[in-house]
Amino acid sequence: MVKQAESVLNAEPDKIANMANLASMLFESFGHHWIGFYRVVEDELVLGPFQGPVACTRIKFNKGVCGTSWAQERTLIVEDVHQFEGHIACSPYSNSEIVVPCISDGKVWAVLDIDSVNFAEFDETDKGYLEKLVTLL
Ligand code: SME
Repeated sequence: MVKQAESVLNAEPDKIANMANLASMLFESFGHHWIGFYRVVEDELVLGPFQGPVACTRIKFNKGVCGTSWAQERTLIVEDVHQFEGHIACSPYSNSEIVVPCISDGKVWAVLDIDSVNFAEFDETDKGYLEKLVTLL
């Protein structure tokens, strides 16, 4: 998938178009429950391109898994979202989650969020590849 993403994303400079295609490629390859982006817009995260059910549109800095990943500027792997204090439940089917910050010039400008119906779906291998994929944006 990295090769496919490189060829699709390198051809296009627009970040939103690339987020849309990356969400699609991940969804087609892995079929997780929800895959998408939240963009940093002023002091909050705003829903961006995604695949899956309708989701909440705005997340405050340091709130939920996404806002915490933004605040801490690092990937968060949550094996059981019900144990994560402040988790924002957009879907009753989500049981585990990974959030990867998209960082450019030392600043987080978006986060990639993936939700799974399975507990403990994501590990360090996912983290490594997803961090590589978001650098292509
Ligand atoms: N669970 C996320 C909110 C976004 S949805 O999962 C799509 C969070 O706690 O930040």
